[in-house]
Amino acid sequence: MFVGVVWNCAAELKLVLTAILFLFSLITILQFMSSRFNFIPSNLGTTCVSTPTNIDYVTVSAINATATPPEKDEILENGVIKRAFNPFGSAAYTFILMSAYRGGLNTFAVMGLASKPLHVYGKQSYRCEWVPNDDLQEKASVLGTQILPDWGYGRVYTVLVVNCTFPTPVGDIQGGKLLVHAVTNGGGDAKSNTTDTFIALTETEKDFSNFFSKFNRPPKYDFLYCGSSLYGNLSPQRVREWLAFHVRLFGDKSHFVIHDAGGIHDGVMAVLKPWMDKGYVTLQDIREQERFDGYYHNQFLIVNDCLHRYRLEAKWMFFFDVDEFIFVPKKSTIKSVVDSLSDYTQFTIEQMPMSNKLCLEQDRGKSYRKWGFEKLVYKDIKRGIRRDRKYAVQPRNVIATGVHMSQNTVGKTTHKTEGRIKYFHYHGTIAERREPCRQLVNATAITVDRTPYEVDTTMRDIAGTVKRFELKMIGPTLQRTRQ
Ligand SMILES: *[C@@H]1O[C@H](CO)[C@@H](O)[C@H](O)[C@H]1NC(C)=O
Ligand SMILES: *[C@@H]1O[C@H](CO)[C@@H](O)[C@H](O)[C@H]1NC(C)=O
Ligand SMILES: *[C@@H]1O[C@H](CO)[C@@H](O)[C@H](O)[C@H]1NC(C)=O
Ligand SMILES: *[C@@H]1O[C@H](CO)[C@@H](O)[C@H](O)[C@H]1NC(C)=O
Repeated sequence: MFVGVVWNCAAELKLVLTAILFLFSLITILQFMSSRFNFIPSNLGTTCVSTPTNIDYVTVSAINATATPPEKDEILENGVIKRAFNPFGSAAYTFILMSAYRGGLNTFAVMGLASKPLHVYGKQSYRCEWVPNDDLQEKASVLGTQILPDWGYGRVYTVLVVNCTFPTPVGDIQGGKLLVHAVTNGGGDAKSNTTDTFIALTETEKDFSNFFSKFNRPPKYDFLYCGSSLYGNLSPQRVREWLAFHVRLFGDKSHFVIHDAGGIHDGVMAVLKPWMDKGYVTLQDIREQERFDGYYHNQFLIVNDCLHRYRLEAKWMFFFDVDEFIFVPKKSTIKSVVDSLSDYTQFTIEQMPMSNKLCLEQDRGKSYRKWGFEKLVYKDIKRGIRRDRKYAVQPRNVIATGVHMSQNTVGKTTHKTEGRIKYFHYHGTIAERREPCRQLVNATAITVDRTPYEVDTTMRDIAGTVKRFELKMIGPTLQRTRQ
């Protein structure tokens, strides 16, 4: 039946071409024929090529006589019909480069999105090549190690970190380029083995000496926060509270990298600005990544970019969300906690889930003036639930990272941090523009929808200190911030 269709189309094609010739020569009756002229190509589009007919250039190329015609079915000598398969176009890019950073004298990390099917069903490989600017120097080449941090989550694209580690140091102040040759090895189409070569990194003399001084210096920051993709209608007031709280917690030598995947509207920008001006916050616009269909605003790509971008500049890096608040007990500081864990490359942090709607009866009528972590004091104490953890790493020993922990580290990981550090999670409050208090309770414990809650005023108790800290640091500019 399909053979018939192919032949019918070929016949139609001939007919069309003849008709067009005919039309051109009989210019006087073009007016009569114009409706038919429009009709033929779009009709062809639907019967022969399964592409949307409203895309004009596709239709035009279908009748472009100089293009190579599709292969036809063939009747073999023994009477068997050998069927033809004709590929058109391509559905996904082999690789979408976000960034590449030098991580050592002989090592680089290249971050991007890769076609997921090529990785699931094929054997895609990446060869790294160092090309020095000085022609007299030798080139170097090595097979890159592939790390897929969001493996199992990706969609059309999956996040890929290519670790290029050369056997000996490469590059010097003369500069050079890191090329990556992405080879499909017959994944996608067994008949073709295509290689796409791209420049992942161009290193100038200045880049190289910058790297060198960073590499040899102690890290600039004690603490660096890598936020994942922010999107949706975020509450400026919640972001304001989060920032004031964490700048106070992490202190002078801390920095916050925020990634805008569409969530930083004017209201949120206004609360970031004073902290950006003071040098605590860097805002990165990553909205472009939305063009490429990956997992959850490509958050695994973003955190890996952040890891490698700041790898040499921070002693410790923290990965958690803007509805989460890190807490260390009064007798300690965040500095003393990480110092006690310095033997570990990574430690994970236990979650304290907080209700996002239960508040105290005593706050009635004044809750709107209180901060989120001040009024949301009911802690979910349901047992036997495996809850997400968040984590911190010493980045120089980390090769790639995830959202809940890193699986690619050199060195030890510990989960035994109870009593030393934890985080309060106010799920669903950050993208809520209304007053969060929905139910006022006059009891130290309550069960709502079969979830038991208990009052925990740990965070409420430090709200005053945090507010005074904000006022001292940036003045009263944010006093009128809205929910
Ligand atoms: C027809 O296709 C060929 C090869 O794809 C291309 O070089 C040529 O420019 C096309 N001509 C027109 C009129 O589109
Ligand atoms: C690449 O991997 C090696 C270990 O396999 C590691 O030592 C190196 O730091 C990594 N490079 C980067 C830039 O992450
Ligand atoms: C594909 O090409 C690359 C580079 O030329 C080669 O190393 C590789 O072996 C080829 N793969 C296959 C499956 O032919
Ligand atoms: C809470 O309940 C106690 C008695 O159980 C009562 O004395 C107190 O006034 C109540 N507080 C508020 C704010 O309603």
